[in-house]
Amino acid sequence: MTVKFSQVSFTYQKGTPFEHLAIQNIITSFEQGKYYAIIGQTGSGKSTLIQHLNGLLKPSEGHLTIDDITITHKTKDKALKEVRKRIGMVFQFPESQLFEDSVEREILFGPKNFGMPVEQVKERAFQLLMDLGFNRDIFQQSPFQMSGGQMRKIAITSILAMDPDIVILDEPTAGLDPKSRKQIMEMIKKLQVEQNKTIILVTHEMNDVATYVDEIKIMNQGQLVETCTPRTLFKDTQYVSHLHLDVPDIVKLQRDIEHKHQFEFEKVALTEAEFIEMYKEWQRDER
Ligand SMILES: Nc1ncnc2c1ncn2[C@@H]1O[C@H](COP(=O)(O)OP(=O)(O)OP(=O)(O)O)[C@@H](O)[C@H]1O
Ligand SMILES: [Mg+2]
Repeated sequence: MTVKFSQVSFTYQKGTPFEHLAIQNIITSFEQGKYYAIIGQTGSGKSTLIQHLNGLLKPSEGHLTIDDITITHKTKDKALKEVRKRIGMVFQFPESQLFEDSVEREILFGPKNFGMPVEQVKERAFQLLMDLGFNRDIFQQSPFQMSGGQMRKIAITSILAMDPDIVILDEPTAGLDPKSRKQIMEMIKKLQVEQNKTIILVTHEMNDVATYVDEIKIMNQGQLVETCTPRTLFKDTQYVSHLHLDVPDIVKLQRDIEHKHQFEFEKVALTEAEFIEMYKEWQRDER
């Protein structure tokens, strides 16, 4: 699926004294199979932007297209049923929306509504749950007797079990322990690599942006100010801090080492493994 935003603006509570222009003149696109991050300061419009992708919010001005479906402020919810089936939206703190008393019922709820084959959905969910550290017993358990992290994993799985073409995640690992965070991020990357899913990740976690993402879209005060790769962005430490964002830990380490030795590597490393290679090569050349 290809998504195109054409001059999309959105105003909350339009026509009231509280009206607020949250995103402005957004022109951008998302291609199938790529991993995107949407980053930007708090209040910059990230959540507002992504909620247009499944028609939860409709543009106050402009329009977006999802393949051959056009969404404007006039589009009726009925026309969006197909889109909603193919776009999986994981909201912030999705565990708060769990309501069934067993994992199986929770996971089958959405797919059943869309008339999807139960066994296939269960098998898909099982594969995901194994990647997240569960075993098959999990299906009969109640989500409400689980830890917050486990509930989060169940909530994410229940969206992914619908097999969406585009997976949108708003801060999916916020507040979780490092192990759960890594399990979730690795599982999502696998969906992109092995199943060609489009991933759209809203995050403040720059280590994840460096490790997993193909393309970054930067929001600032309701506007999309930049589209670039992680390597281009994190190379420019000054620009990153100008946007009130952070650089990944590995870039901080690289900059410290460069500072100490009074020189600069040609490129910025995005992972530890990459940095170790660069460092070794440099030491070889130094000798
Ligand atoms: N329901 C609402 N009514 C009025 N204004 C809103 C509403 N929801 C969000 N806003 C405002 O719209 C702007 C963009 O909000 P949004 O939630 O999209 O930002 P965000 O980038 O997702 O922030 P965060 O990083 O904190 O999640 C903010 O100024 C916010 O206060
Ligand atoms: Mg948000």
